[in-house]
This record gives sequence, C-alpha cells and structure tokens, in this order.
Amino acid sequence: MRRLVYTSVATADFAEGDLFRIVSQSARKNGDIGLSGFLLYSNRRFLQLLEGPADQISALYGVIQSDNRHCDCTVVLDEQIAHSAFSKWSMRRLRSTSNDAILAEIAEQAGRDVPSGLDSIIRDFLSQPAAS
Ligand SMILES: Cc1cc2nc3c(=O)[nH]c(=O)nc-3n(C[C@H](O)[C@H](O)[C@H](O)COP(=O)(O)O)c2cc1C
Repeated sequence: MRRLVYTSVATADFAEGDLFRIVSQSARKNGDIGLSGFLLYSNRRFLQLLEGPADQISALYGVIQSDNRHCDCTVVLDEQIAHSAFSKWSMRRLRSTSNDAILAEIAEQAGRDVPSGLDSIIRDFLSQPAAS
C-alpha cells in the first residue's frame, strides 16, 4: 500500500462552493476502490492525504493532477505502508478551525499510526499565506 500527501493551489476555476461536491464525490469513489484519506483546504490551497493500493493511488493522483481547479501539485510525503491509518475516512474534509484541532482529529483517528512528519507538514501548510 502507498500513502501520498500533496499540496496544491486553487485556480480561478475553483469556487469554495465546489468543495462539498469534490469531497462527497471523492468519498464515494475512493471508498469504492479501497482508498482513504483526507482533504484540507485553507487560504486557497489544498493538502490531501491519500492511502490505499499503490496502483489505485497512482491512477487517481494522475486524474487529480490534471484537474484544472488546482495547480502546482507538489508531493510532500510518499511512502509505502503496511496498512491505512485513516481507513474509516473514505475522504474526510478537515476544517481548519485551528491547527491544534486538526492535529487532534488526525491523532484521534490514526492513533499510534500517525504518519511521522505529518504534524509538521500540516503546521507548515496552515501557516502559509493565502495563495494569490
Ligand atoms: C483538490 C482536489 C482533490 C480531489 N480529490 C479527489 C479524490 O480523492 N477522489 C476522486 O475521485 N476525485 C478527486 N478529485 C476530483 C478529480 O480531480 C476529478 O474531477 C474526478 O475524479 C472526476 O470524476 P468523474 O470522471 O466521475 O467526473 C479532486 C479534485 C480536486 C481539485
């Protein structure tokens, strides 16, 4: 299995109102193919964690990268894993109320399996200024 975390920047084609549809569609489609993860949206940037069978992750990331509602997809974590840390989240939208609240929600879900380095990846992401 593979875990992939990337960040990207929303384009003018993305309206915040699209988020609900992206997440609900992703939750359904990802669940059907055994993928799980979460999506964080803040300051016109995305951070998404995807995990599941490596070939499914590669195929989906290809589709996602060519979605013109965002650009500058940058992989920040790519690792082989024995099992999913977020198997109950087919695609969870994490809301950026506060860094600590998000990290606590992740820790609660992943337990001892919190991916190493994820805390600082998320703190860095949330501290970035709004994308222009
Ligand atoms: C930031 C972002 C994250 C996305 N994540 C997923 C995802 O996890 N799963 C998914 O199926 N589509 C995701 N999408 C949507 C895909 O890029 C694509 O629009 C969708 O899979 C096309 O589905 P359709 O061919 O059924 O219309 C995402 C789009 C964006 C902009």
